[in-house]
Amino acid sequence: MPSGLTVAAYIVASICFILSLGGLSNQEKAQRGNVYGIAGMGIAIAATLWSDSVTGYGTIAVAMGMGAVIGAVLAMRVEMTSMPELVAILHSFVGLAAVLVGFSSYLDLHIVLEGAAKTIRDIEVFLGVFIGAVTFTGSVIAFGKLKGILNSKPLTLPARHWLNLVLFIVCIYLGKAFVEAGSIDAGIIPLLVMTILAFLFGIHMVMAIGGADMPVVISILNSYSGWAAAATGFMLSNDLLIITGALVGSSGAILSYIMCRAMNRSFLSVVMGGFGSTGSFASDVEGEAVAISSSETANQLGMISSLVIVPGYGMAVAHAQHLVSELTKKLQDRNVQVHFAIHPVAGRMPGHMNVLLAEAKVPYDIVFEMDEINPDLPDTDMVMVIGANDIVNPSAIESPDSPIAGMPVIEVWKAKQVIVLKRSMASGYAGVENPLFYRENTKMLFGDAKESMDQVVSGL
Ligand code: TAP
Repeated sequence: MPSGLTVAAYIVASICFILSLGGLSNQEKAQRGNVYGIAGMGIAIAATLWSDSVTGYGTIAVAMGMGAVIGAVLAMRVEMTSMPELVAILHSFVGLAAVLVGFSSYLDLHIVLEGAAKTIRDIEVFLGVFIGAVTFTGSVIAFGKLKGILNSKPLTLPARHWLNLVLFIVCIYLGKAFVEAGSIDAGIIPLLVMTILAFLFGIHMVMAIGGADMPVVISILNSYSGWAAAATGFMLSNDLLIITGALVGSSGAILSYIMCRAMNRSFLSVVMGGFGSTGSFASDVEGEAVAISSSETANQLGMISSLVIVPGYGMAVAHAQHLVSELTKKLQDRNVQVHFAIHPVAGRMPGHMNVLLAEAKVPYDIVFEMDEINPDLPDTDMVMVIGANDIVNPSAIESPDSPIAGMPVIEVWKAKQVIVLKRSMASGYAGVENPLFYRENTKMLFGDAKESMDQVVSGL
């Protein structure tokens, strides 16, 4: 294909990616956004395959075939609740790809550069490998923490900030040695040492981050994976990869900022780690938890005129969203005002609850963000908390020593009555005890959220 046509196809693909991101920012347009994304990726792959830089199709066909089969099987098998793990491990692939491309482009004997061009290429390789290596190990550790293979508590090594600083300074020194190296043999040693240090840096960075801050880490790694892809684009002189990487990198950075603001964390404090620890916090829980049966819950629902439903991770695990939607319809038929309250980090990935509610055909106009619904809660007859815990924990507001102190939460306890659906008194992802369960106006409906919801809907 003539190179002009390849460039034109890349521009069309880039526009599709921008439209895709625009679509994904709104639930109603999300499906269209996905279609744009698929179209952009299709055009990008086709244009690359037809471009002059591809000389043989054998290896590409084998790699693409294997990738397509593994990707399709994984995507079909993955549960909604395991999506964050899948995303984390996919980020790690992008990081590893950047490392491998960096090494192969440095070792490519066909590329002979001199002077400024060589310096620029060396900086691209060094930065690309550094970002890729941090993304790779950071994402693998994030995967382990989300999957529960690794403890979600932060690993707080003594003098960890100094350790990070020393690692960083050594990497800058190695970068200088790499760029000044006169031959590949001389340059490969600093490159290899830096790669090992960057691997350690990625491990340490994510190990130091506690459970409650994991959402921000995922979006930061998402951003890193974009920058790693952009760096790969520079190494391969591929404009589309640069644009796509920059789009992912900057949108991930914006998402990280939004999540930090939602959790009242400073970006730097999350990246530096050690927050969100379960540490030595002793919750001053008072009172006794009172259980309620599903038939009593149905009776109570028959007497209210307004209900706010707060879904959380447990609703996703139990697959209770369709029954929640059915309950909503039944109550609306009885002229009960039903609203949903969505916390920005409910569940295990950004937008997790919105996706589940959309899947269960809950109308968008009754779904509200935390800041929109909090002022309405004192006038609400009942709040049903379905498999949520950390996002409704009053200790975030009332206990300055709490590991989640300062995180804005949905202030459900201000409603006239609260019913919490969960299986036990266990804590949530952040491992923090929840005083809400012991409040006078709170009742616990114990059991799997789907089974409880089924009984409540039938009872109604
Ligand atoms: P959590 O605080 O994790 O609480 C979920 C609750 O659901 C648990 O206490 C659990 O209690 C209950 N549960 C589990 N399975 C259930 C089932 N089958 N039926 C009924 N209940 C069930 O969830 P949340 O309130 O949604 O808060 C999210 C947390 O995850 C935050 O700490 C957030 O920082 C973190 N996080 C979020 C993200 C993103 S981006 N959203 C990513 C990573 C981490 P039982 O075991 O007693 O049933």
